[in-house]
Amino acid sequence: MTSQTRLKIVITAGPTREPLDSVRFISNYSTGTIGYLLAAEAVRRGHQVVLISGPVSLKAPEKAMVVKVESARQMYSAVKKHFKLCHCLIMSAAVSDYRPKKIIPGKLKKTKKSLSLELVRNPDILKQLAKIKKDRITVGFALEASNLIPNACRKLREKNLDLIVANKKTKGLSPFGKEKPSGFFIDGGLKAERFTKIQKKALAGLIIDKIEKLWYTHNESKGGKVTA
Ligand code: C5P
Repeated sequence: MTSQTRLKIVITAGPTREPLDSVRFISNYSTGTIGYLLAAEAVRRGHQVVLISGPVSLKAPEKAMVVKVESARQMYSAVKKHFKLCHCLIMSAAVSDYRPKKIIPGKLKKTKKSLSLELVRNPDILKQLAKIKKDRITVGFALEASNLIPNACRKLREKNLDLIVANKKTKGLSPFGKEKPSGFFIDGGLKAERFTKIQKKALAGLIIDKIEKLWYTHNESKGGKVTA
């Protein structure tokens, strides 16, 4: 990468919350760690960062522009807005795949013995935006309990990505928070490169390295000009 290259990178982090009534929601255990580390590393290297974050208790790097969101649909509209002017989108957020079909007004009463919730699919933010990416670099994460590489390769192709970071969900070990992840980087040519029990800070550094290289390779033929 050339020293003057300053990329605009949109990074999503953390979980989303899908409201059920005015006091309850469906969510997941994501802490936002990797997204915030990616933002810190990108800022440290002089890139312009928009960090779109679900509810987490982490401190964002001072130079990042932070957009706080709650639901997947709010995250989608924030990412859409900033995607227009970015060079790279890194979707490290753990977006809820489903949301309750109806938000119950007020607080749901416990009058019934059992209760069924109807859930509907949330938009796939990465897939929708990567369809219209042009020269932008799109990066996703895949957390898989089995068939890690084939599933991650399928997601990379289906979502039109340049890079996917595939993590194995190991029994008993949480992929969220401070654990040292193991997994693979898979690039657009479906080449897999292993990483083993790496600190998340080091992982963030490797991901930004790869993005800088990808951007440089993509744009070298155009004399380094970005058309995003
Ligand atoms: O959940 P899934 O394994 O499909 O996630 C793969 C990638 O897609 C992740 O980078 C995630 O942030 C993104 N994703 C998304 N919108 C969703 C679900 C996942 O952008 N609704």
